[in-house]
Amino acid sequence: MSQPTTKADNIDTSKIPDVTNLTASTITESVHLINSSCPNERSKFIFKSLVQHLHDFVRETNLTTEEWMTAIHFLTDTGKKSSDLRQEFILLSDTLGVSTLIDILNNAKPPGATEATVLGPFFTEDAHDVPSGESIASEGKGDYLYVHGRVTDTKGNGVPGAVIETWETDGHGLYDNQYPNRDGPECRGRILVKPDGNYSYRAVVPVPYPIPGDGPVGKMINHLNRHIYRPAHLHAMIKAEGFETLTTALYVNGDKFLGSDAVFGVKTSLAVDLKQVDDVKVTKARGFPRAIPHKELHFDFIMATPEEGAIARQKLSSTWSKA
Ligand code: BEZ
Ligand code: FE
Repeated sequence: MSQPTTKADNIDTSKIPDVTNLTASTITESVHLINSSCPNERSKFIFKSLVQHLHDFVRETNLTTEEWMTAIHFLTDTGKKSSDLRQEFILLSDTLGVSTLIDILNNAKPPGATEATVLGPFFTEDAHDVPSGESIASEGKGDYLYVHGRVTDTKGNGVPGAVIETWETDGHGLYDNQYPNRDGPECRGRILVKPDGNYSYRAVVPVPYPIPGDGPVGKMINHLNRHIYRPAHLHAMIKAEGFETLTTALYVNGDKFLGSDAVFGVKTSLAVDLKQVDDVKVTKARGFPRAIPHKELHFDFIMATPEEGAIARQKLSSTWSKA
């Protein structure tokens, strides 16, 4: 947005709509009118809708001055809690379902393709390359999990050259970047799939964890009598030439928070069963250091091309605008 640089002397007020003597029913149209000379059509449209919804909200709730001040203080605290390391506004958007709604509209996939879900705040750019079959987690970070499957297109052809960025919490429910003394990437890696699209890696069994609850958003969640937990999941971001980047996550069936994710990110197509593998010879053959039972997760990621994605989004927005 450009800075307001116009000096008082240079403003021709005769061209500006009069906005005096407003009532609760005329104020909305007047604000629309005064905003209507905005040269950017998209901004004009967005502000018109924003003002309309805000005013309708205030009228509908008959909002008191005290309640509005509570909201102002809450937003001020949200800003104060935010820093380069912590984004409380994104957490607010996540916990009110806005992030997931924006994700649904912007990342719709064609039938058969793997669905997308929210990225979350714990992705980092510094994951190491991990050869297919190797481990993203150091020994002792959690219970053993073997992850494998294929990356394909919607017709079932393998996608050679695809890269899976994956990240998860350790067995304590913390991402590496939540530890103050982080000295490098842990429980995250970048896996290059094999030429036939197959991939595998060793990881740890994901566990449910709380989103940061020590700020204003945590207070809001408490006030709403909700919990702050996400069900156990493994994040994945898959990039391949000729395909849309797929940002998704796999959720563990049986997790008690699967149906009530604090950030609304769960889709049942992304929920997987973890298979118990008791044959410790298999554990060793898969490269785990200790001969103990482990869990296995099998999942095929099905990628959409930009054309397929565009058709899916077009279809979604046409059902939306008809509603
Ligand atoms: C996550 O899954 O990492 C996440 C997503 C949204 C908010 C907090 C955490
Ligand atoms: Fe997560």
